[in-house]
Amino acid sequence: MTVREILKMGDPRLLRIAPKVMAFDTDELHLLITDMLDTMAAANGAGLAAPQIDVDLQVVIFGTNTVNPRYPDAPVVPRTVLINPLITALDAKVENGWEGCLSVPGMRGVVPRHARIRYTGFDQYGDAIDRTVDGFHARVVQHECDHLMGKLYPIRMTDFTKFGFTEVLFSNLNILDDD
Ligand code: NI
Repeated sequence: MTVREILKMGDPRLLRIAPKVMAFDTDELHLLITDMLDTMAAANGAGLAAPQIDVDLQVVIFGTNTVNPRYPDAPVVPRTVLINPLITALDAKVENGWEGCLSVPGMRGVVPRHARIRYTGFDQYGDAIDRTVDGFHARVVQHECDHLMGKLYPIRMTDFTKFGFTEVLFSNLNILDDD
């Protein structure tokens, strides 16, 4: 088990465009996934992208199969390893929702995202993934895949009155937040 350091906003390594994974089911890839799962779990994250631990590849993980203490009201998203992802918006509908990011610790912001998407890609064994999702699941996928294009959620924001420190924004709620 290895919990890796998570790069924080301002680090230029988070701004890179990640290249595709070319080889599946390798020891190197499985080790990366294990470290990412351990790192996400240790931080109670809803997702993690490889560039956040300074691995410049198109690999994201998300979902926990259980309620996430950082997002106690969010629906459960199945634990997923998604490699070389491609996202297609299914219609023009956009929804606003709160997001946080392990690379932007202690803060939350409201981000507009496509409400319904189809995403495709591969798992770590090279098996194809093809899902149509909406709501929080769609939001998490868009957030994580943005990391592969060097985009952190603040760059997607349009209303900066809804951006701030979690402990201030949600001071009336008992949110467990470790970051
Ligand atoms: Ni993030």
